[in-house]
Amino acid sequence: MKILITQKLPINPKKHLNDFNLIYNENSFPIKESDLLNYIEDVSGIVSTIGTKLNRELLEKSSNLKIIANYGVGYDNIDIDFAKEKNIIVTNTPYVLTESTAELAITLMLNIARKVLEANKYLIDGEFKGWQPTLFLGDDLYKKTVGIFGFGRIGQRVAQILNVFSCNTIYNSRTRKIHEEQLLNATFVSFEDMLINSDFIIITAPKSKDTFHRFTINEFQKMKKTSYIINVGRGDIIKEDDLIYALKNRFISGAALDVYEKEPHIPDELKNLKNTVLLPHIGSATFETRKNMALLCFDSIKKVLLDRKKPWNAVF
Ligand code: DGY
Repeated sequence: MKILITQKLPINPKKHLNDFNLIYNENSFPIKESDLLNYIEDVSGIVSTIGTKLNRELLEKSSNLKIIANYGVGYDNIDIDFAKEKNIIVTNTPYVLTESTAELAITLMLNIARKVLEANKYLIDGEFKGWQPTLFLGDDLYKKTVGIFGFGRIGQRVAQILNVFSCNTIYNSRTRKIHEEQLLNATFVSFEDMLINSDFIIITAPKSKDTFHRFTINEFQKMKKTSYIINVGRGDIIKEDDLIYALKNRFISGAALDVYEKEPHIPDELKNLKNTVLLPHIGSATFETRKNMALLCFDSIKKVLLDRKKPWNAVF
């Protein structure tokens, strides 16, 4: 059986998938669509990444495909309805990346609130001539109101960490999670109340038709002028042009982003702003997590193709 791995992974798949004939794209960037087209017809499994668009046109060409093991918790790069129609199992990598992604959200919060990147640049540029009472004044996290948009595993882990900073944590998500909110000391609020009351808003929600452009100029206008927005979910939850306008006109104080609307394209206007921290989609990028994500993908492939069982992490 042939397995296609569409992008270089942090661990060598050969040792883990030695029962299969591997087609491994050892390039750091995803396989080209033309190559994907060549291979898709007779592979039994694919380990894909966010950069591999597995749409209907491509999946239609597959005749042996039984499983797509997506290397990531989000799987918006795959036409799920069509995979279902074709009885192709799709798995993702939940749980293993929760802590790393939540920790990056907190990193972004602290960085934007304490102007870490700006201060670092100032020092490297030789501007630091001595301590000053007014140099790089930022904001504390201590006792601030933090709104979490999306209260899945990552949002909940963020809420748990925020207790250390004595934050007042509020959240908005599709469904209210009474048990979890009691456990984590968080309060469910309406979307509107989250916008109005938060000093920080952290987006951890996945991409969907409900979350698309949930944050536009209307929302930024409702937020506090002193507030910050952080996004570790998916880029198009924020309408980027509106965010740029809001940042330029100081509707909000700053934005710290790990994901973008038209990734990997980042508008120059966004890059040129001072009140931002911009990272290249590294939410789950730790040695431990990226290794565990790979192992989970390999296990999912083996479960379906060798044991003929549905893995626990199948998305439908
Ligand atoms: C995820 O796990 O969803 C990451 O954003 C990479 O796709």
